[in-house]
Amino acid sequence: MRRAVSLAQGREFLSIPGPSVIPDAVLQAMHRPAVSIYEGELEEITHGLLRDLKPVARTDGLPFIYIANGHGAWEAALTNTLSRGDRALVLESGRFAVGWGEMAATLGVEVEVLRAEPRRAVDPDAVEARLRADRDHAIRAILVVQVDTASSVVNDIAAIRAAIDAAGHPALFMVDVIASQGCMAYEMDAWGVDVTVGGAQKGLMTPPGLAFTWAGEKAMAAHARADLRTQYWDWSLRLEDPHYRKYCGTPPVHLLYALRAALDMLAAEGLEAAWARHATLARAVRAAVAAWGADGPLSFNIVEPAERADSVTTVLAGDADVERFRRFCHQNLGLVLGVGLGDFERRSFRIGHMGWLNPPMLLGTLGAAEAGLRACGIPHGEGALAAAAAVIADHFG
Ligand SMILES: Cc1ncc(COP(=O)(O)O)c(C=O)c1O
Repeated sequence: MRRAVSLAQGREFLSIPGPSVIPDAVLQAMHRPAVSIYEGELEEITHGLLRDLKPVARTDGLPFIYIANGHGAWEAALTNTLSRGDRALVLESGRFAVGWGEMAATLGVEVEVLRAEPRRAVDPDAVEARLRADRDHAIRAILVVQVDTASSVVNDIAAIRAAIDAAGHPALFMVDVIASQGCMAYEMDAWGVDVTVGGAQKGLMTPPGLAFTWAGEKAMAAHARADLRTQYWDWSLRLEDPHYRKYCGTPPVHLLYALRAALDMLAAEGLEAAWARHATLARAVRAAVAAWGADGPLSFNIVEPAERADSVTTVLAGDADVERFRRFCHQNLGLVLGVGLGDFERRSFRIGHMGWLNPPMLLGTLGAAEAGLRACGIPHGEGALAAAAAVIADHFG
């Protein structure tokens, strides 16, 4: 490679699976002085957000807003519903559900991990078999992610619910939608989910710092008995007035304005339209990755096409020096790609395609990544950009 000046001047472009690109309208919504935290506009914003978060998860259950990242919402879900010594079944499909389970173990929950086939989604039949074997219903909670952001798999939440029902098992069903909300269809109530866990910084287009839980009736009943409850995360305390109780202290004023603007954008687009947009853009990414993989070491991490997420794609890179490639893209092209995580560390890169994203942004990512592959001497097939553009054109065909 010749030594040359960097081309990275211009807006650095984040193509990582969260935080995602923050829309200008969301950034502008935060550009204001702090307002009264006792009454008036901010209190109305809180009530509006609590109302409007329900349809985002497709639930009549109760939403709770935390000043936290996704790990905080994990802890909120666990501490509000479980007791020391309870057993939780973690459905592995990559890194994140396992991480949630590790957190549960530190809280005193007995954690069992149901392993998945490598590079595959959770198998609902395996879930049913495990739950049937749990005759005395020792398992109190089942933890799963809809999209695993490390492996880029999407799990079939409705099919897992059907497996739980087929086994006649009463455990709470808890689903992390942090990497799928606003990007892929999710129906908390129709799919019988008891607790949903979300975060602001991916499909919800809001700066990191807010995370959410939604609790259904069965979860609220478990909450009444849970002994892991702590003051900060506690759902009951957050249902109380006055306003500061909703946040267990000072409200995150500017993030609330940001979330308000983001939810307004999502409502204006329509949730289904956002899902459809993500589906097309994800198909475009997959068309490009398939073309790259036709010649050389690059391949999809997720083996089954139907199990590939619409919000993130993990690309295995074989023996290629993927870290050098990623650094090259960042330093010389202004493109930030996601690092490989867990088992895929240093063997993969990830393309985030979630949130506020349109074809020029996505094609820019794919084109810059291809320039990076070429400059770093990583062999790849031709025609990736043409394939991606064709998918986008076909969206209208
Ligand atoms: C599916 C999933 N769950 C949980 C988390 C943890 O969220 P955070 O990093 O905001 O704590 C992430 C983060 O990427 C995630 O993708």
